[in-house]
Amino acid sequence: MRERIVSGMRPTGKLHLGHYLGVIQNWVELQHKYDSFFFVADWHALTTKYDSTESLKENTLDVAIDWLASGIDPDISTVYVQSLVPEIAELNVYLGMITPQNWVERDPCLKDMVKILRSKEGQNSQMSYGLLGYPVLMSADIMMMNATHVPVGIDQVAHIEITRDIARRFNQVYKEEFFNEPKPLLNHCSLICGLDGNKMGKSFKNDIKISDTEEETAKKVMTAITDRSRMRKTDLGHPDECEVAFKYWKIFGTEEQVAKVRTECEKGERGCADCKRQLGTLINEKLAAIREKRRYYETHIDEVKDILNEGSKKARTEAQKILTHVRELVKMY
Ligand code: TRP
Repeated sequence: MRERIVSGMRPTGKLHLGHYLGVIQNWVELQHKYDSFFFVADWHALTTKYDSTESLKENTLDVAIDWLASGIDPDISTVYVQSLVPEIAELNVYLGMITPQNWVERDPCLKDMVKILRSKEGQNSQMSYGLLGYPVLMSADIMMMNATHVPVGIDQVAHIEITRDIARRFNQVYKEEFFNEPKPLLNHCSLICGLDGNKMGKSFKNDIKISDTEEETAKKVMTAITDRSRMRKTDLGHPDECEVAFKYWKIFGTEEQVAKVRTECEKGERGCADCKRQLGTLINEKLAAIREKRRYYETHIDEVKDILNEGSKKARTEAQKILTHVRELVKMY
């Protein structure tokens, strides 16, 4: 049997280049090698945003559109919506029963999420039972398809560790080596920082979106931080101290382009504004095909909905097979 991957993203809305370079590009490659399942984690969105669900549907579609535009191929991968596969919720119940409380309490990602919540909602904001169960639900996502591997960013590795622990414990408790202990598949892509040099993120307003227009992109790239010590074009530049622009060149440019930028900058022959104008053009070129595909799906939204519905049906069929065996193992009625 082919090895299997499962991965998901919360529906946070239109995706940015951090998502594209850090996660989606990796999925696009992996889908040719693995039996692949990609889903929009809309239940996970509720763990922190249960009271602001106005855009949940739209965000779910936006995430799916960005995936399809980026090259996730629904003919070879199963693309679905978590909440359209209710079997996951049932598996979540069984897994919740065998997961010791301190396994979820020590989850480092959870501690970060609580910090963010407190900073937004004040010190008294309570962690919900659902948020505490985040890693268990995530384990249910992964184990629902009995995945062997989970392609994620480094920030999610702690969650995969919990999943491995839960899978092992399930096998022990119910005395069968049924579930795989899934391994994280870390991407080899370069991490792209935001325009201000910090981590790229929607809420930091330092991101370039896949869906941005060429004009928006060009304008944003002009705000990218460069070598702060450089005031005039003729000042000798220091590409390695250029905080953002040169890093982007290294991600998007060819070796030759990067070498040329470096020499011209160091010799004071290339001003930062010109440099960023060229960089904007380059990024727009790289994204042109994806953006065109995105416009297609935006105007054929019924096609996107069909893909999600079909994918969810396929995922359910797979999930039901696994769940039938789980129910037998647990000795449910
Ligand atoms: N927690 C992941 C994130 O925030 C999203 C996610 C939910 C996920 N379920 C998953 C990722 C299962 C991989 C596998 O990025």
